[in-house]
Amino acid sequence: MEGIRGRSAIVTGAGSGIGREIALLFASEGAKVVVAELNEAAGRETERMIRDSGGEAIFLRTDVSLDGDCASAVRLARESFGSVDVLINNAGIDGRPAPVADIDPADLDRIMRVNFTGAFLMCRHALREMAGQRRGSIVNIASLGGLIPVHNGMPYSASKAALIMLTRSIAAEYGRYGVRANAIAPGWAETDMVRRYAEQSSIDPQEFRRAVSRRAPLGRLATTRDVADLALFLCSDRASYITGQTYVIDGGLSVT
Ligand SMILES: NC(=O)c1ccc[n+]([C@@H]2O[C@H](COP(=O)([O-])OP(=O)(O)OC[C@H]3O[C@@H](n4cnc5c(N)ncnc54)[C@H](O)[C@@H]3O)[C@@H](O)[C@H]2O)c1
Repeated sequence: MEGIRGRSAIVTGAGSGIGREIALLFASEGAKVVVAELNEAAGRETERMIRDSGGEAIFLRTDVSLDGDCASAVRLARESFGSVDVLINNAGIDGRPAPVADIDPADLDRIMRVNFTGAFLMCRHALREMAGQRRGSIVNIASLGGLIPVHNGMPYSASKAALIMLTRSIAAEYGRYGVRANAIAPGWAETDMVRRYAEQSSIDPQEFRRAVSRRAPLGRLATTRDVADLALFLCSDRASYITGQTYVIDGGLSVT
């Protein structure tokens, strides 16, 4: 696909689930990937998987909630790969399910710090490079939960709603520099996050999957590849006139 081969791409949270899938897919399409991940073993594993299949990747232990770590990830992409072409803000966490009045303020701060502020910090550094190059594409992995409240999940939903507005602000302010920003809003995707959500809500994960599959018109959860394919399209030149948008990918869940 046009637009990814030879480009550098930073993928946060690339040690697992959707982030790992995006890193592997982008590398297989010829991108040079910075695996920016908090969990060192998981990040190194993604780096190894890419290198073993002939791709280019560098792991950097990165906590996106720390400005210095975000600056280092962007610097690494520029110094190792020559430019900062693609940023995928994928790192994200969820919290303990609770109705609004019972939410621990510390939990709200923690979730906002990673899901929203973390993406902002990465963008802050990447945008300076991208604007200078007059080229760049940012994809923020938001959530259907940023458009429709997750029951007992206000901090997560609020963080993803904020991420969608960050996306729109960047699109409005940086289009003139050739920088595009879009968001992806998955419904439920087959990752550890789904298992954790089900367990924390005292639901059997298999039963939860079956319930989601029954409700979704397409009859299943998203695969991580479904989400990665959309991210690839949005970063490719085929999407060169698309910016500021949020793409729901939920098997039709939100229209039922
Ligand atoms: N799985 C779903 O159903 C679903 C639905 C909608 C949106 N999403 C979003 O997709 C993204 C990926 O989720 P996933 O399901 O693959 O989850 P996951 O838990 O499998 O992966 C998240 C990764 O982010 C990393 N991470 C966590 N905090 C970090 C930090 N501070 N700095 C850097 N890395 C950090 C984790 O170590 C992990 O490798 C998240 O933003 C999530 O909110 C997931």
